[in-house]
Amino acid sequence: MQVNLQKAVLILREDGVVGIPTETVYGLAARIDSESALRQIFATKERPFFDPLIVHVSSLEQARGLVSWWPEVATVLAQRFWPGPLTLVLPKAEQVNPLITSGLPTVALRQPRHPLTQQLLEKVGPLAAPSANKFGRVSPTRPEHVEGEFSGQVAVLDGGSCEVGIESTVLLVKNSNPVQISILREGQILLSEIEKEMTEAKLPFTTVAAVSRAESPGHFRHHYMPSVPLVLCERIPRCQEHLQVALAEKISQIPEQVEGVRVRKPSSLQNLRELVLATDPVLAARELYQRLREVAETSPDVIYFVVPSCCIFRS
Ligand code: TXA
Ligand code: MG
Repeated sequence: MQVNLQKAVLILREDGVVGIPTETVYGLAARIDSESALRQIFATKERPFFDPLIVHVSSLEQARGLVSWWPEVATVLAQRFWPGPLTLVLPKAEQVNPLITSGLPTVALRQPRHPLTQQLLEKVGPLAAPSANKFGRVSPTRPEHVEGEFSGQVAVLDGGSCEVGIESTVLLVKNSNPVQISILREGQILLSEIEKEMTEAKLPFTTVAAVSRAESPGHFRHHYMPSVPLVLCERIPRCQEHLQVALAEKISQIPEQVEGVRVRKPSSLQNLRELVLATDPVLAARELYQRLREVAETSPDVIYFVVPSCCIFRS
């Protein structure tokens, strides 16, 4: 069910949840002061309680009220990248419900850029919102995706297609001397851009690459899983037969289980569909989830993607 801004405000005020547009992906939102609505997010998404939620705010000042430590680094980064696809993880204020933070001492904050959601935040206050998909599945970038994901049971504020198309960059900022930063999830805003801002502002910091599972509890290799297996190919296949052999070899190397989740391996390699994306990375990100859904809808045995030669993938 698609709703307008007025109706979305009403549902949230009455302790409900609403699908909201952001510039990255659609979120499933609840007021941070409504425990029942927060619980509804986890139930609707079938999300485990150990995976914390991002709190969306309408301003830097609102964010400051939700943390126990707000360093100058946060001001510099928020002024440069907000509203936008950067999430800052900082020590939480006592009043932030531990349901949101999964009991962690930190809270994730971002000011989204979509004008409708900005208006919503101004009217109802901060909103906790994970991506509006079932846990582990492909994120939604259109209102119809949210409706389909939850079989029309969730009200969605229609804000059109998401401009960025992939989730925000998540940055942990640690209270140490000097301040320590770590990327917990990569997104459109790169570590190099973040470091450049901090260097230009003459703020001392260190960057730490690896973080523990405890600091980044929502990270799984089986996340963003399309409904049909997707295989990455390094070379353009010469012919169909060659492609089938290459795919069969790749699939045989995949373990049966990843983090306790069974890997769905195809029984046949007859019906293959290629995922084609724009070569420009910004455009490719914008269309990634929509294209993935489109190719998966035709129920092929496997989807394959030919990785552009300029891309270097880490395993
Ligand atoms: O672009 C986005 O970030 C979208 C839109 C809706 O804002 N939201 C989103 O939420 O992707 P979600 O829940 O799908 O992903 C949030 C990520 C998870 O990996 C979670 O573990 C991490 O942020 N996170 C949230 N709070 C955290 C915290 N206190 N410490 C470490 N990681 C945290
Ligand atoms: Mg998500």
